[in-house]
Amino acid sequence: MEKSELIDELLRDLKKQKLEKNFPQFKLRFNPFPLAGLPRFPLPPLDLEIVDKIRHFVVSTYSEGEYGGLTIVGDYGMGKTHLLRFIQSLIEGLTKKAQKEKMDFSAVTCFIDRPEDSPQRVVHKIIEDIGYDKIRKYVWKIVIEKLGNEPTSFREKYKPKQIQLGSAENWLQLFEEPTRSNYLTFLSRFRKLNGDLKLLQENVREIIKQEIVLDSALADRYLDLILFAEEKVAESSWEILAGYVSKKDIQKKEIMFLNSIVKILKKVGFKHLYVFVDEFEDIGKLSSAKRTNYLLTLITLINKERRWSVIVSLIRDVLEEEIKKQPPLYDRLTTTMIDLKPLNEKKAKRLLASYLNVSRTEESESTFPFSEDSVKKMAKISEGNYRSFLVLAYNSLEIALREKARNINPEIVERARELRGT
Ligand SMILES: Nc1ncnc2c1ncn2[C@@H]1O[C@H](COP(=O)(O)OP(=O)(O)OP(=O)(O)O)[C@@H](O)[C@H]1O
Ligand SMILES: [Mg+2]
Repeated sequence: MEKSELIDELLRDLKKQKLEKNFPQFKLRFNPFPLAGLPRFPLPPLDLEIVDKIRHFVVSTYSEGEYGGLTIVGDYGMGKTHLLRFIQSLIEGLTKKAQKEKMDFSAVTCFIDRPEDSPQRVVHKIIEDIGYDKIRKYVWKIVIEKLGNEPTSFREKYKPKQIQLGSAENWLQLFEEPTRSNYLTFLSRFRKLNGDLKLLQENVREIIKQEIVLDSALADRYLDLILFAEEKVAESSWEILAGYVSKKDIQKKEIMFLNSIVKILKKVGFKHLYVFVDEFEDIGKLSSAKRTNYLLTLITLINKERRWSVIVSLIRDVLEEEIKKQPPLYDRLTTTMIDLKPLNEKKAKRLLASYLNVSRTEESESTFPFSEDSVKKMAKISEGNYRSFLVLAYNSLEIALREKARNINPEIVERARELRGT
């Protein structure tokens, strides 16, 4: 077939697909299953036991203000990433709702796809995931609160010596909204008033040292991040902060770095930091010396900073063979442990209903259009693996929609398996 012909065919398929997707034969709005078996919706775990563990973990770490480690183990495709994402969205949802209802729960989460090759990079990833703009905003919030303690004497301190520019009112406006919360507007107005920028810089550095981190080099980095945001466009925020960690004293600096982030978050009202690290088994790929150093540094980080928690996922072998060799780290990572088991028939049905409910107008426990026998067959073919099971479900539903079948039977499941070529 010519390429142009194939393109025409594909376009026809796509058009048909659209029409058929609207076909209400199964009372579904769309095919809810993940085409490639990757996490799509943050649906809850199927086991009550897992739900209980998560509840206990979140409540205890948050209310005690203590470090906690949660480890999720499971084979490929068993739902590790899914569960990490679910817990993350739970904590974020909780923070939003608590804020609305004026309850005490305020936490920050960040998600790291893999452990990187050193804890130093993990610390950088944390900042990257929270977002430089947010960090800037937070640091500024801390600074402006201090600067604005005595707004009237501010003018006396910073106004130009010779020429008298700007009325007292103009100076006071620096501490009013929207200027107050926007450091860029604040700085540009401050410049227009010919304020003493050098003095401001010195005092802001002092505030950062008092409020966030005593270390001068790191305080300067935070200062650069806010005060010179306009001039340093060429130098990315990443370089400004990343430049802090040098080869010397690396462990001590990482700890200070992490402490300073937690302190910033705490000062602006967040009480706990939850760091998610997926595919933690990758540390098994590091050279032996690097790995030992990594694990030891991680223990130190955990010991020195209490207002954070770490949630990792990995396959069981690496947990047993690598992490167990470092008992202190093993203990810290596994204050709570979740072991993801293959689907059985009962859970497979609940999983199907869970997805179908995303797409149907009325919630129910039914697995329609999947027949009882087809569920059994899918569970068997996939050997209880979530990813294989869901890809089969996706393809079976596509076939059934295309052929306008009345329901999904084992024969359609068989063809779905062939479609995938497994
Ligand atoms: N409780 C659940 N509810 C709905 N879907 C789930 C659930 N658990 C897992 N899944 C789905 O199963 C599929 C496989 O899960 P996931 O990608 O999380 O596995 P994994 O263990 O991270 O695999 P890998 O080791 O290959 O990274 C995803 O589509 C995910 O959304
Ligand atoms: Mg995964």
